[in-house]
Amino acid sequence: MIIKRIEDWYTSKKVTEVTTIIGNTGYGKTYCAGKIVEKYIEEGWPFCIVDKMGIHFVIRAEFTDVVIVGGQYADYTLEQIDEVLPLLLDENINFVLDVSELDESVVCDFVEGFFEHMYEWHKEHRKPRNYVIEECDAFMGQTGTPAGVKNMITKCITKGRMYGFGFTLLSQRFRMIDKTGLGQTKNYLVFNIKLTNDLTLLKNLVGEDVSSKVRRLPMGKCLIMTEEWHGIYSVGTKKSPDEAVTPEIGVVLKDIKVKPLSDKIRNKLEN
Ligand SMILES: Nc1ncnc2c1ncn2[C@@H]1O[C@H](COP(=O)(O)OP(=O)(O)OP(=O)(O)O)[C@@H](O)[C@H]1O
Ligand SMILES: [Mg+2]
Repeated sequence: MIIKRIEDWYTSKKVTEVTTIIGNTGYGKTYCAGKIVEKYIEEGWPFCIVDKMGIHFVIRAEFTDVVIVGGQYADYTLEQIDEVLPLLLDENINFVLDVSELDESVVCDFVEGFFEHMYEWHKEHRKPRNYVIEECDAFMGQTGTPAGVKNMITKCITKGRMYGFGFTLLSQRFRMIDKTGLGQTKNYLVFNIKLTNDLTLLKNLVGEDVSSKVRRLPMGKCLIMTEEWHGIYSVGTKKSPDEAVTPEIGVVLKDIKVKPLSDKIRNKLEN
């Protein structure tokens, strides 16, 4: 391949690794996460998206086997999570946990409870699943995040690998994420960043100054960095529509039509 694409670089090994997606606003982190989960769906790898922004429901405009728990397009409300979660996990079903409608005062407690449950479940079952955490600094921030949720996610990241946990963490800045969890990152997907602080941190992580490359990255391209190498990759076009599109003067935003949950999955959950 002449153009290197992120989705081709992804292998099943990534499911149980920690991948951090970082970059300035609007350069394509959320889009990239959407593309990555489409690869998961095609390959049959399990994932859960923890979605504080309420934007990942768009996956259901294309893929009808993904369950949405919570939010505007919920198949099951957050109140029903205790009934539906055991089935989702036992049946290896992919799901979006949309916590966007929860009040700031309760969302961290909810997510803490969720990962506490997941930790016990994974410990017992040792099955792989990747947790994509949109705007992860809300739950594992360097400052301002309640200790409970931060410690619980950090425990899943630092102790959970052998139980099947993997993570995809999204944030705008390295500096916003708590370093204990961030330090476990195996793969960095770095989109355009410009702040010197973050570029210096990046230099320390890679062991070489890649600032000039990273500063110039256009939307939809990122630098993949692993322990062994780094290189520039493109994010291919998603099948599902775009919810986080930047509104433009004179351009009407498209309506996104969510499809019903497939009968196959509904039968598994309701019979
Ligand atoms: N690979 C891509 N191909 C086509 N369009 C893209 C791509 N990446 C990003 N875009 C466009 O740019 C918009 C902004 O991207 P995205 O929402 O992923 O940014 P972000 O990095 O998550 O920003 P923020 O930090 O504000 O959440 C997308 O809605 C989409 O319209
Ligand atoms: Mg985003």
